[in-house]
Amino acid sequence: MIRRSVLVGTGSALPAHAVSNAELSERVETSDEWIVERTGIRSRYIAGAGETTSSLATDAARAALAAAGLQPSDIGLIILATCTPDQTFPASATIVQDRLGCHGGIAFDVGAVCSGFLYAVSVADAMLKTGAAERALVIGAETMSRILDWEDRTTCVLFGDGAGAIVLEAREVAEDGPGIISSRLHADGAHNELLYVDGGPSTTGTVGHIRMRGREVFRHAVVNLAEVLGEVLVDTGFTAQDIDWVVPHQANQRILDATARKLGLPPEKVVVTVDRHANTSAASVPLALDAAIKDGRIKPGDLVMLEAMGGGFTWGASLVRI
Ligand code: UT7
Repeated sequence: MIRRSVLVGTGSALPAHAVSNAELSERVETSDEWIVERTGIRSRYIAGAGETTSSLATDAARAALAAAGLQPSDIGLIILATCTPDQTFPASATIVQDRLGCHGGIAFDVGAVCSGFLYAVSVADAMLKTGAAERALVIGAETMSRILDWEDRTTCVLFGDGAGAIVLEAREVAEDGPGIISSRLHADGAHNELLYVDGGPSTTGTVGHIRMRGREVFRHAVVNLAEVLGEVLVDTGFTAQDIDWVVPHQANQRILDATARKLGLPPEKVVVTVDRHANTSAASVPLALDAAIKDGRIKPGDLVMLEAMGGGFTWGASLVRI
């Protein structure tokens, strides 16, 4: 028997208001046709007044706790992956902790942009294995709309808001039992200028806006994702054919297709939500995971690969038995 972090519940939350490509084309020089053809995105949710990263994160966390049949007091660790916190400090994870009403445990944010959820899962897994806590809430939550330049058509059509959460529980399981089997994380800080925000507390004193050289990011994403997925397979001894589902970061349908092709995976095994959520950064993987668990596609016993790549660059993958 080995100690593993087992997924015992998932949840998600989206803002009330969805915005179609057609609506965006009234704001900037774009079209539904361009957005769908280049990205697969048809719609995205945009946070309204009163909807914040922590409010979405709290709603997703409550849903994940309900799915797990647990109370907030059962949680000893909250890790929130976000690049759009409510405040520069304190960590939004502490705001979520307070809203849930479970005080005294560990709570902090992780910043790895679109790979943030993968980083958070990996850190939570390591902490659960050391006994730092018995149960963790791992959340990806973003209000990307608040750092978009709504005059820049090359970025504002790509992103959306939302939150996804999972509950992990430390359990003694058999080798072929459930839980996180292996994770790999990477970063390469040399590519800051390809994807960044042009502001921050220590430089401009402003929040700033997203800037991206999309074509270059696209190229790096396909190469890095195929590499890290290969590493996790080698680490664990599984092959691509053993994977039941891939739950990728949802940046662009063409990246999902290219990565699946490189791995020799049929597109039917890839969970896709980019069409209705767009790119929700750290929230995209847990939102997609929750969608595929709730609609019954992902079942107990399935082997699921989570993967993401984003600003930094950062990228990573986790293999999980449900
Ligand atoms: O989540 C973090 C990771 N992020 C990503 O993985 C994003 C990766 N990149 C991408 O998804 C794609 O590169 C984009 C969707 C951002 C862009 O697609 P692309 O096929 O690489 O297009 P492009 O940037 O090469 O632009 C092609 C043309 C340009 O016009 P010219 O220079 O060829 O005349 C752009 O100005 O499309 C134009 N364009 C637009 N046209 C209509 C750019 N944005 C728009 C727009 N509507 N919204």
